[in-house]
Amino acid sequence: MIYPALLLAHLFAALFFIGTVFFEVLMLEGVRKHVPREMMRTIEIAIGTRARRIMPWVLLVLYSAGIGLAWHYREALAHPFSNSMGLLLTIKILLALSVLGHFLTAMTLRSKGKLKSVHFKYIHLSVFCHMVGIVLLAKTMFYLHW
Ligand code: HEM
Repeated sequence: MIYPALLLAHLFAALFFIGTVFFEVLMLEGVRKHVPREMMRTIEIAIGTRARRIMPWVLLVLYSAGIGLAWHYREALAHPFSNSMGLLLTIKILLALSVLGHFLTAMTLRSKGKLKSVHFKYIHLSVFCHMVGIVLLAKTMFYLHW
């Protein structure tokens, strides 16, 4: 009963996080060239303020539920090179940790007032690529075997 609850919590938090990143990269970056630079900066600051309030909770649920789910696969994770599931899940977890690193870097730059539009853009692009990898691995790890 606990596993399905963790899976649902993980899935909803992932939807929230991935949805936000996809919106920022595919929608927001697309409107950048149609909006004056100062207005874009105001929008980014407003989104950043909102994200700072909500995202830590979303990430807390996402990562703690993820750890709970991963516990179920601890035997496969203990020997990642001896089974495909363990290897793909290990790569997924490493990508997730790298995403966390991006998030913490953005927060640190922001708190020092050094988060410029250019950082905002490249951090989002990099996290977007990580997300695509994470989703592909999250689903294919159950179907790819060797
Ligand atoms: C950026 C962070 C993460 C994202 C976006 C993410 C996303 C996802 C998604 C979309 C799924 C598929 C869920 C489903 O189809 O029902 C999934 C499954 C899974 N994730 Fe994550 N995840 C993240 C972090 C983590 C972490 C840190 C761990 C472990 C330490 C983890 C462990 C798992 C496991 C074990 C599954 C398989 C669950 C199952 O289908 O039974 N995830 N993840």
